Amino acid sequence: MFLVTSEVERILDEFTRELAVVITVDPSSRTERERLIQAIARELEVDIREEQVSELVIATAGLNLHQLESILLETYYTEKRFSVGRIKTLKSELVKKSGVLEVTDPRATFDDIGGYQVNKDFVRRYIINVLARPDRARRLGVPLPRGLLLFGPPGTGKSLFANALASEVNLPFINLVTENIYSKWLGESGQKMKNAIRLAEKMSPAVVFVDEIDRFGRRGQAADSAGEETRRVFSQFLEWLGRPDREAIIVGTTNVPEHLDEAFTRTGRFDYKIPFLYPGPAARLDVMRVHLGLASANRRPRTPLAVPEEDLLHYLRENVVPATASFSGAELEEVVTRAKRNAFDRGAEAVGPEDFDESVRSFRIDTRQRKRTIENYLDEARRLTDDQPFLDAIQAEMGVTDAPRA
Ligand SMILES: Nc1ncnc2c1ncn2[C@@H]1O[C@H](COP(=O)(O)OP(=O)(O)O)[C@@H](O)[C@H]1O
Ligand SMILES: [Mg+2]
Repeated sequence: MFLVTSEVERILDEFTRELAVVITVDPSSRTERERLIQAIARELEVDIREEQVSELVIATAGLNLHQLESILLETYYTEKRFSVGRIKTLKSELVKKSGVLEVTDPRATFDDIGGYQVNKDFVRRYIINVLARPDRARRLGVPLPRGLLLFGPPGTGKSLFANALASEVNLPFINLVTENIYSKWLGESGQKMKNAIRLAEKMSPAVVFVDEIDRFGRRGQAADSAGEETRRVFSQFLEWLGRPDREAIIVGTTNVPEHLDEAFTRTGRFDYKIPFLYPGPAARLDVMRVHLGLASANRRPRTPLAVPEEDLLHYLRENVVPATASFSGAELEEVVTRAKRNAFDRGAEAVGPEDFDESVRSFRIDTRQRKRTIENYLDEARRLTDDQPFLDAIQAEMGVTDAPRA
């Protein structure tokens, strides 16, 4: 008996699937897409250059021929041409239907991240520059980077950094939505994961972002049947992570590195494990500058200031920076937001030092708790990072001696 289906997991239960031979057909090959694009262009009498064809072939990776055809026709009838931008939008809608992947254009760059210069430099040297010159890297036997783990306390900009990295390397940003993998139908999650991996590989090279990757593989997970399914999905993911021919660059983040299964942190799974500790003094000023729209090449609109920029920066450096030791980037953003709100509230048209003064006075964090948290993440950084100079530079930049005032 032969069955042709796009949803094998809905038709056959797990046991029957084990008995059957399941052949998975790739959505489409480059050549097939190229031929179809040229055929459709001829049919519609659209003049299309060679470079445009290859651009379209790349933009439509991961689609099957039927989807490719309907997307091309749709953009042609709405825009009278094959618009790559429109194709990207339509494609991301289609991919979203898989339920597990989301494709977005990156929204941030390194300029939107205040501080973390050591991390930016490290990633630029070992990831961005290598990806920019893959042939040169190959000649020297330098492996292409394929996996990064960003870890540190919440709100230090790990998710933001992953997003910015995709735009710095100029690759699509695919979000693997971990919470959607675990289906309520037993046995389905494995299939979903398998499809997601296949689709992500088809769209690669791409940055595959796995936010809060610890959700996958936690230590000491329950051994019941739901636990067993979780283990299965986890081992599929691990297998992908360790596969030598993987093209997707996986960037995972976690706030709880101590919960990660050891299999994740073993050497070889991720090329680099990068700590995101609390920002040091210079970095804190930088984060505030970003959120005031004062950083260079920043996309944020410039906040109107009640005093000259130099004077405000001086005030922030002398007063706000010392008062915000061990605040996270997200908390510093909140300090800036509160200052803006204070200015609004007093009827002013511009933000001044007094607004920051009030903001800092109203914003409290639990400093004793925070001291323990800092120690904890420092321990994790020492445990997971195998690059001593990098670790030293991070500790210096993050002002490890710059402890919160009790
Ligand atoms: N270094 C930073 N520079 C600028 N903004 C930051 C920074 N860190 C955090 N933020 C702000 O806080 C928000 C939340 O940070 P996020 O990336 O989600 O942190 P994490 O993933 O580490 O928990 C960001 O979207 C950004 O607005
Ligand atoms: Mg995050």
